[in-house]
Amino acid sequence: MLVNNRHYETIWLKENNPEIVQAIDQRFLPFELVIEDIRTPEQMFSAIRDMHVRGAPLIGAAGALGMYLATIGRKTNAGYYADMASFLNSSRPTAVNLGFAVNRTLQAIIRGNTPEEKKKNALEEALKIIDAERENCRQIGLHGLTLIRKLSESKNNATVNILTHCNAGWLACIDYGTATAPIYFAHDLGIKLHVWVDETRPRNQGARLTAWELEQHGVPHTIIADNTGGHLMQAKMVDMVIVGSDRTAINGDVANKIGTYLKALAAFDNRIPFYVALPSSSIDWQLTNGLEQIPIEQRNADEIMKMEGLYNGSIISIDITSGKSPAANYAFDVTPSRLVTGLITERGICKARKEEILGLFPEKKPG
Ligand code: MRU
Repeated sequence: MLVNNRHYETIWLKENNPEIVQAIDQRFLPFELVIEDIRTPEQMFSAIRDMHVRGAPLIGAAGALGMYLATIGRKTNAGYYADMASFLNSSRPTAVNLGFAVNRTLQAIIRGNTPEEKKKNALEEALKIIDAERENCRQIGLHGLTLIRKLSESKNNATVNILTHCNAGWLACIDYGTATAPIYFAHDLGIKLHVWVDETRPRNQGARLTAWELEQHGVPHTIIADNTGGHLMQAKMVDMVIVGSDRTAINGDVANKIGTYLKALAAFDNRIPFYVALPSSSIDWQLTNGLEQIPIEQRNADEIMKMEGLYNGSIISIDITSGKSPAANYAFDVTPSRLVTGLITERGICKARKEEILGLFPEKKPG
């Protein structure tokens, strides 16, 4: 998508040195556009864990490229690559895209007989994953567009108000985003819309990243405190909710950024459609019950007790509590399928139910 009218994606190989991965370091947004050079799998691990790169499809791509970095200058050593895969997989637990992409790249490495072949296979696989994720988001955008268009028609072309949570935008993916792809496509077609952007405490991905993306693309939007959504829904100021997902179980339960569940409850109570946009790489085909089985990341309590912002031109962190009380930082929650109106996938829209999900992805049917 556009940054200062120039097209960017979130991660790529350095132009004159394909042995270096470059990525937008999202910790500096929206204040500064910083591009980071990542040269080793250890550096990739830190970039994922410390959220220089974040968002489910992007951490999958980053993990795959981390495996590619592991093949650079290496002699053949089967154990080393398996260890690197476990290491990278452990950087963040909730988004299933990470394990999916890292393990696919590991298999490609194992298929190579020589160090050169392993390196070539790893890069090809990582780039395939990246291409597929870009295309998945584009397809999600086209399918989701039909929903926004219908809403717009039902309102006689009056502004469609969409609420989103966290950042399921292009910064969380390769390009377009999941939840935001339909929004960008509708906006580009001239459909009048406005986005309510949940700030998304504690890390403020909504206020810092989604708002920045939308502003760069010229999409009308308003940042709101996380607690505002319910009120706006009661006041009929929200026509639909679209969020992303970090892991969806095959029963349709959806894990996404903490606070998503409360938005789903409020949407359900107010009969507002609640859609989840996700590529199939975010579906965990092994999990039959998301509420019981999806691992929920807990992060450092400092993210709750401190707040980051710009002061005199520098990003600083300030205490917002006495520091004497404990804090708990659950990073994700699970929205049960009964609260989800539909899943927007690259193959189309379906109910958040096993039969419908498998109807779109019949090759995943067991047996
Ligand atoms: O902790 P983050 O910033 O990686 O969490 C991101 C989200 O929860 C997004 O909604 C998600 O990855 C959706 S996929 C685009």
